[in-house]
Amino acid sequence: MRIPFIAGNWKMYKTQAEAEAFANEFVKLYSGTDVRAAICAPFTDLRYLVDAFRGTGIGVGAQNVHYEDEGAFTGEISADMLSEIGVDFCIVGHSERRQYFAETNETVNLKVKKLLEKGIAPIMCVGESLEQRDSGELYDFVRTQLEEGLAGVEKDDLPKIVIAYEPIWAIGTGRTATPEQAEDMCAFIRNTLIEIYDEESADEVIIQYGGSVKPANATEIMNQVEIDGALVGGASLKAEDFMAIIDF
Ligand code: 13P
Repeated sequence: MRIPFIAGNWKMYKTQAEAEAFANEFVKLYSGTDVRAAICAPFTDLRYLVDAFRGTGIGVGAQNVHYEDEGAFTGEISADMLSEIGVDFCIVGHSERRQYFAETNETVNLKVKKLLEKGIAPIMCVGESLEQRDSGELYDFVRTQLEEGLAGVEKDDLPKIVIAYEPIWAIGTGRTATPEQAEDMCAFIRNTLIEIYDEESADEVIIQYGGSVKPANATEIMNQVEIDGALVGGASLKAEDFMAIIDF
């Protein structure tokens, strides 16, 4: 049984004071739901959010990590630093990091393996551009992202990984994939995982859809069989909107 999991990706929004205001409101709204929820926040908010969400069931995630344990990597953050303060999740391979910060399938793979080693659940993002969709390359592209991103990951570790399908053309554009398009690719992702691993472990993997998810379209997206959750950008910045999505 896959429990629905809705994660917010705050991207580069919210100072700690703003995170505090959100947490105060959100903790009151969240009690009593059986959908899992997490907020993936900027590094500077993480320690505060871990404290604020303690005992509520709300998870906390980072948005990036370095794949080495430590070293002369100015500006980077290690998995140990995240795990010591109690971070549960970490987004890897978001298309914005692939586009602006030269993230590749190879570095995504190193990060996924490091996070698993340190007990943090990776939320690994995949998804095609509009050109790739229009030219029919979308399936090959996403398959390669999965194969290379998960290379060397053991079968027993697969269920610890969350896969987020985020078509690049639907991110921050207001242009959501139709529920059929999202379901189709999430089913393709699950089938690819079955091919790489086996049905038993692939069946346990939470597959999220991300891209312009908002309260108005959350129900039809979450009602799809192969979609187990959502990775929510803009609409996770307001506690009320994020809660409305969790309440889909
Ligand atoms: P939006 O929900 O703002 O489109 O962002 C999606 C996203 O990139 C989540 O990681």
